[in-house]
Amino acid sequence: MILPVVTHPHPVLRQKAQPLKKVTKRIKKLAQNMLETMYAADGVGLAGPQVGVAKRIIVLDVGKGPLVLVNPQILGKSGQERDVEGCLSIPGRNAYVTRAAKVKVTGLDLDGRQVVLEGDGLLARAFQHEIDHLDGILFIDYLEDSSNCSPDVN
Ligand code: NI
Repeated sequence: MILPVVTHPHPVLRQKAQPLKKVTKRIKKLAQNMLETMYAADGVGLAGPQVGVAKRIIVLDVGKGPLVLVNPQILGKSGQERDVEGCLSIPGRNAYVTRAAKVKVTGLDLDGRQVVLEGDGLLARAFQHEIDHLDGILFIDYLEDSSNCSPDVN
């Protein structure tokens, strides 16, 4: 089921999302709906608050298949990379954001197992962007100057 995507400045996007106690059937269904919603919108990631659910869950697909992480946490970061970013909750806006080039993250998969994942490039960027959403942080918060927004770049 495709869910409505909440857009900035909706207050849920600024809330600190709550950890999930366990991966229930309902959470699995939510993850599936979030993936469907993300694919339908041509996104590479989506976080709970973006569908109005202030819970710590993210879904991603940077072209290597779907990933779901519950209660994700960044364990380590290295390097720096500057690239263009956008957000399904901030339609029509893209900008360069500097992020760590590589990240190591942990969280629960849909079977409730703790997993550790490493990513670089777009995957590293997507992890950081989506985990930020769980803390009420949006990519536009990193922009020093709105002039580096380039709506033509996608
Ligand atoms: Ni986003």
